[in-house]
Amino acid sequence: METIYGLLTGSRAEREEALARAGEILRAGGLVAFPTETVYGLGGNALSAAAAEKIYAAKGRPSDNPLIVHIARFEELKPLVREIPESAGKLAAAFWPGPLTMILPKSEAVPRETSGGLDTVAIRLPLDSNARALIRAAGVPVAAPSANTSGRPSPTEVRHVAEDLGGKIDMILDGGAVAVGLESTIVDLTGSVPALLRPGAITPEMLEGVLGKIEFDPVLTKPLTPDMHPKAPGMKYRHYAPRAEMYLVDGTQAAVIRKINACAALAKADGKKVGILASAENADAYCADAVLCLGERVKPAEIAHNLFAALREMDARAVDVIYAEAFPESGVGLAVMNRMNKAAGHHYLHAEEEK
Ligand code: TXA
Ligand code: MG
Repeated sequence: METIYGLLTGSRAEREEALARAGEILRAGGLVAFPTETVYGLGGNALSAAAAEKIYAAKGRPSDNPLIVHIARFEELKPLVREIPESAGKLAAAFWPGPLTMILPKSEAVPRETSGGLDTVAIRLPLDSNARALIRAAGVPVAAPSANTSGRPSPTEVRHVAEDLGGKIDMILDGGAVAVGLESTIVDLTGSVPALLRPGAITPEMLEGVLGKIEFDPVLTKPLTPDMHPKAPGMKYRHYAPRAEMYLVDGTQAAVIRKINACAALAKADGKKVGILASAENADAYCADAVLCLGERVKPAEIAHNLFAALREMDARAVDVIYAEAFPESGVGLAVMNRMNKAAGHHYLHAEEEK
């Protein structure tokens, strides 16, 4: 299939033409990748079972892993769900438009293909003005998972989308680099207590500020074992994963630097190509084939922004093993470490102080 590219960052006329074309494609049942403030999404008509099937096929994604339905205005929520609990109204007032997805009981309007066979549906009203303009141009809600091949890190730049889906979908909209860099926070509002299913830029502290106490799906921080059943089906897959083996290294900063350099030297002696994911504070202290700086330790939003591109860059540099600094789990750091844990399969090396 030939993929059309549309530019959203050029002239106004060019943007409008690209959006109009993309809207037509979505209405006709085709697939369009587009920027959102979190990551690029792979969009299709959320009310069409056939479009959902196409999305699963293009991504190579299991069809029991439901899609997020994107809307452009709060009023568009009503026909998609059986009820709007008070908690949803409060969260929408606080964080929509924005990087927050709510799980609600789905209405008949949403095909089971879109919701992966579940009787609930994930809904998000994105902040990115290009994303909302696309939904308006389509005239239908837009189902969109992240626009990556299943199992690869989510795309934060248009070239990542082209790498994974070029030739497999109808159109790719180029809106430049995304703002957040990690997928939206997912909150399940179908139980008695709101539950965090996936951490993101809307932090637990922010959610609790609006809702009071929330629950945490146990899969968020622990390695997945066969007896655990994540409520977000997508959380069961080894996601965000680079091709190399990856290890997280924690401890005091001096000890972490020593440990990573020692491991890197051993791996190199073994003939392996070594990558290191470093904080800006420590990056100069490392020696390896690829040392990529994620940002300052004290700025988790910066690390969130750079993480997925860095994981892809490690693939491009064909490293065999990656050692990554572990970061604090406060604020957006929880989302950062959730993705890094998945990328590393929860493999940790603990750096010991020298006696
Ligand atoms: O930031 C984002 O959320 C991006 C952009 C494009 O909006 N989208 C995204 O979609 O990350 P995706 O498909 O890569 O991740 C959606 C996650 C999956 O883990 C899926 O299992 C979960 O949401 N999910 C979707 N519907 C659900 C439902 N009804 N109940 C529980 N989890 C659900
Ligand atoms: Mg995804």
